[in-house]
Amino acid sequence: MDPFKTAKEILENISNEVIDSPELLESFRMKYLATKNIIKPLFGEMKDVPVESRKEFGFLLNQLKQNAEEKYQQWKQYFEDQRKNDEQAQIDLSRPGDPILLGSRHPISIVTNRIIDIFVKLGFSVAENREVEDDWHNFTAMNTPQDHPARDMQDTFYLLNSTEYLLRTHTSSVQARVMSSQKPPIRIIAPGRVYRNETISARSHAQFHQVEGLYVDKGVSFADMKQTLLYFAQEVYGPDTKIRLRPSYFPFTEPSAEMDVWMGTETEKNKRLTKGTGWLEVLGCGMVDPQVLANCGIDPEVYTGFAFGIGIERSAMQQFEVGDIRMFFENDLRFLSQFKSAF
Ligand code: DAH
Repeated sequence: MDPFKTAKEILENISNEVIDSPELLESFRMKYLATKNIIKPLFGEMKDVPVESRKEFGFLLNQLKQNAEEKYQQWKQYFEDQRKNDEQAQIDLSRPGDPILLGSRHPISIVTNRIIDIFVKLGFSVAENREVEDDWHNFTAMNTPQDHPARDMQDTFYLLNSTEYLLRTHTSSVQARVMSSQKPPIRIIAPGRVYRNETISARSHAQFHQVEGLYVDKGVSFADMKQTLLYFAQEVYGPDTKIRLRPSYFPFTEPSAEMDVWMGTETEKNKRLTKGTGWLEVLGCGMVDPQVLANCGIDPEVYTGFAFGIGIERSAMQQFEVGDIRMFFENDLRFLSQFKSAF
């Protein structure tokens, strides 16, 4: 038998083989590519081929192997693609998807954002600053020098081995930051976390949040402050809300006041919230002390201003009827997920 002829026949057969099922593909593989394939014996016939034709014969045998391999791979790919398509066709697109778990805003953020929104409408812009503060911005610039008795009002966490750096005890430090780096007119609102070395209980915590407000310009008056704070109170508690300003003391304002909102005593809840007086204490405020302006490089002969500080936790506790301040910091999802609809 002429090995050339046999090889050429096989070559032709390879291209003529019909492969239209994975089973036939497997037969094809067994015939041409498996260990006992029909091409292999031809290699043994090389010795019967005349020397001058051996190269050509070798080339032909390689061609056989290569064609068989190529055809096999092509069909293999084809059947694989088909299988994948079939699988996809079986996916039921009408089935409901896996739910995506939505987070919710933290109640402290909800209250803070509401306050910010109100003051942004009045032209205030948000100024945030550092929580690790130096003594000057937190105390000295705010008219509370080293030996000032008012320092005892706020028990302070100092950084280890430092008398200079501390965790800010109030957002009023942002007033000093802004006033010593910007020129009036200044109209900012500064939300943020503050720290005090206090015993943790249901009613007080060593960390909490405040929103600071500051307005400095030529001719800013106590009446401007009162009108601004009334607007704020009416946005939060309703259009007919009444406020009162009670004289108070803060080192950085003169005069200083505390603002109460009239809640009434009709309901048990309001009685409880206001300790029977009907008045709810909402914030501290006052005219920026001229000394504070001067400390920050603003001429108190030219400019005046008012400032206020609002505590967030107490307001959030009232609003959402949370009985224990510690809940805000425990990150218990059973607690946090109750505020999904609040914002
Ligand atoms: N910093 C005060 C506190 O933490 C709150 C405060 C009172 C801020 C009066 C002010 C202000 O800006 O004018 O208790």
